[in-house]
Amino acid sequence: MKRLDDYRLKLGDLELVPLVIGGMGVDISTTELALEAARLGGIGHISDAMLPAVADRRFRTRFVAKKLERHKLHLPNPDKSAVQFDLDELAEATRLHVGYTMERKRGPGLIFINCMEKLTMNNPRETLRVRLRAALDAGIDGITLSAGLHLGSFNLIADHPRFRDAKLGIIVSSVRALNLFLKRSARLKRHPDYIVVEGPLAGGHLGFGPDWREHDLKTIVAEVLQFLRSEGLAIPVIPAGGIFTGTDAVEYLEMGAAAVQVATRFTVTLECGLPDDVKQEYFRAGEEDIEVNLLSPTGYPMRMLKHCPAVGSKTRPHCEAYGYLLDGSGRCAYLEAYHGAIENGGIDGARSLEKICLCTHMRKFQCWTCGHTTYRLKDTTRRLADGSYQLLTAEHVFRDYQFSTDHRIALPEPEA
Ligand SMILES: Cc1cc2nc3c(=O)[nH]c(=O)nc-3n(C[C@H](O)[C@H](O)[C@H](O)COP(=O)(O)O)c2cc1C
Repeated sequence: MKRLDDYRLKLGDLELVPLVIGGMGVDISTTELALEAARLGGIGHISDAMLPAVADRRFRTRFVAKKLERHKLHLPNPDKSAVQFDLDELAEATRLHVGYTMERKRGPGLIFINCMEKLTMNNPRETLRVRLRAALDAGIDGITLSAGLHLGSFNLIADHPRFRDAKLGIIVSSVRALNLFLKRSARLKRHPDYIVVEGPLAGGHLGFGPDWREHDLKTIVAEVLQFLRSEGLAIPVIPAGGIFTGTDAVEYLEMGAAAVQVATRFTVTLECGLPDDVKQEYFRAGEEDIEVNLLSPTGYPMRMLKHCPAVGSKTRPHCEAYGYLLDGSGRCAYLEAYHGAIENGGIDGARSLEKICLCTHMRKFQCWTCGHTTYRLKDTTRRLADGSYQLLTAEHVFRDYQFSTDHRIALPEPEA
């Protein structure tokens, strides 16, 4: 019976445990979680979502306060086009977080940064350029371009000294998206070093429409592998979404995948950034508590626990402080829903809004996005005398993926 550890992910000259912990914004996939993956010989991700806010919490900087101070005169104004990020501050926040993480890296594995391109930040091209370049400057091993993938992103860093040495990957959910991207990267003679293929059971935003139920990961992975073979391309393929046991992972490696990317099982580890009481919500969740909805202002479906504080909240927009989802002309679907409600008789009278303020609620860990398999987390640990669930270490979960067979899940040692 094969175990995940019988395989290795080959990236350039490196041979790695074929397990990638996916990026989870905002600071859910922490430095500490990524460091554990690297120490154990796999790949960990930090996330570049809302890094100025993350840096303030971690390094006592004042990026958010300074941005709010500069733009507070726009608070009552629905037009946020003037609410721009200071690009030097954005670069500094990215360098701080990435530098802090990379200085602490030990062991044979790698640390990548997950960069969601749908964080358009009121100036999509320039803010993305700064985020990517600052991460490379600060020594990140690789960048995974995700959600909202833009075909021109490689161009933004093509003249960076690390463009060909850093590992660059993309997340796609279809052959169509992959094909378009590869056509553009061929022009730069720089294909991605790996391709994460994310299916409909993943956490966070989904790369599918409301018909996500009609898709399944195995079929898409088979299509991607076939497409790459037909193009004569040997790029490692990394499936993600719903891979819950080491045996699930082995099934993909047997198909020809190079590694797997997982996240949900790590949301209940000590190293994960979610507050402990939220980790207990993830453990307690039943299948009926998990929904895919269209509440995200990005327009993409998003999976979350439906009783989380973000759902139904009518908070004032905080674009002067945050503003990560403002498009290039200062618009965001939450802003429109909020001001629309005010015009239609006041925010208190509105039963609910069509969208949620993702910036505010992700910042406070109040939007409990999760993978489809979250309802199975309770089976991965022990129940404590007070009824709560024992948190796991990242090492325990990592090694369980690495060495388990027959879909078995190892329980942690009982707490002393
Ligand atoms: C809590 C949570 C937050 C996530 N946030 C992001 C994100 O910010 N960017 C992203 O590309 N993927 C995000 N994902 C997706 C994961 O990186 C990963 O690809 C996917 O969840 C793997 O499936 P699994 O959770 O079933 O193991 C998130 C997943 C979870 C569970």
